[in-house]
Amino acid sequence: MKISIILGTRPEIIKFSPIIREFERLGLDFFILHSGQHYSYNLDRVFFEQLGLPGVRYNLDVGSGSHGLQTGKMLIGIEAVLKREFPDVVLVQGDTNTTLAGALAAVKLHIQVGHVEAELRSYDRSMPEEINRLLADHCSDLLFAPTEKSRRILLGEGFSEDRIFVTGNTVVDALYQNLKLAEGRKDILKNLGLKEQGFFLVTIHRQENVDDKNRFSRILDGLELVSGKFGLPIIYPVHPRAERRMREFGLKPKGVRMIKPLDYLSFLVLESRARLVLTDSGGVQEETCILRVPCVTLRYSTERPETLEAGSNILAGAEPEAILEKVEIMLSRKRDWPNPFGDGKAGGRITRILLSKFEERD
Ligand code: UD1
Ligand code: UDP
Repeated sequence: MKISIILGTRPEIIKFSPIIREFERLGLDFFILHSGQHYSYNLDRVFFEQLGLPGVRYNLDVGSGSHGLQTGKMLIGIEAVLKREFPDVVLVQGDTNTTLAGALAAVKLHIQVGHVEAELRSYDRSMPEEINRLLADHCSDLLFAPTEKSRRILLGEGFSEDRIFVTGNTVVDALYQNLKLAEGRKDILKNLGLKEQGFFLVTIHRQENVDDKNRFSRILDGLELVSGKFGLPIIYPVHPRAERRMREFGLKPKGVRMIKPLDYLSFLVLESRARLVLTDSGGVQEETCILRVPCVTLRYSTERPETLEAGSNILAGAEPEAILEKVEIMLSRKRDWPNPFGDGKAGGRITRILLSKFEERD
């Protein structure tokens, strides 16, 4: 069995890391194809180094651009690599343009596709991620659904039962594998002058939030309200998309401390010690649920309804008063919710499924 792992962005590197570790442990024949969607050191290389991941065999260096341009460049590059390598199976993860390009290039070459973190519907088709995951699911032969709820939704959409495997989400594996290591980065608290439970952590990077001047500005006003009310530091590691938009729109957040995007271990330290997290990130909604840290999601919908049901997360949207109100609600909740995303063994499960499907053919 020869496997091609296709990735290109920060969350894909993190969520693929447990699978890559398992492949290495078992000495499987695999290679990594990086689209080059993320290329800045602190969105890309730092994660390979910190997670001890092997080098990539191909990097397409597609860089940034409009959706069509970026996805088109990826399709061309990925097809060329797949024609050369002809793996038995291509693995993609999540819902980025890299995910879509990888799945589409492979299925057109009649190569089997496995989609890690399949399903996840927000039912908001204005999100590029919603289109990417819908299409990636339809290109895939193996749908690795994180939860039982995901499986039911896929069945409801007409996906046949034999294509769906409930594995848990590899975000849990990555978290469990790295939490102890993160203790080595605890100095970040001291360096930023923060006390455990004495600060809020924020991440905002979604296109629908930061590319809209009004909406981004209202969210930042919300943070200012929160800062005024609680008097706690608000730490915001700024994603480059958000940084660019802030500059373009001339937005100057008040009551918010902006820092560069963090490496994974340092981010985990802050995330696990924060009094509360405000975010529009998918992975952060999951991680806060697992870590039992209250989360306020700065969006009107989520593809992680499990977190709402568990009680770890609440949707605030983008209006300042609503953001403040939802922070107050979440601060009053007991942090005793269950983790719906699995037992941290998703990587092993996915590997075993691949072995059972592809080794028998050899
Ligand atoms: C992408 C994914 C999003 C995911 C996010 C993870 C899509 C459609 N979006 O969004 O689902 O949540 O990654 O972080 O695939 N930039 C840099 N350095 C980089 C990469 C980007 O400076 O290494 C800047 C560029 O100005 C670029 C902008 O960030 O135009 C956006 O990058 P892009 O990859 O298009 O989308 P993300 O917002 O990162
Ligand atoms: N993350 C990180 N450093 C940061 C912000 C986030 O390492 O400064 C990690 C976080 O722990 C999570 C992942 O990046 O695992 C989430 O990625 P992102 O929010 O970019 O994408 P999404 O999950 O929304 O697709």
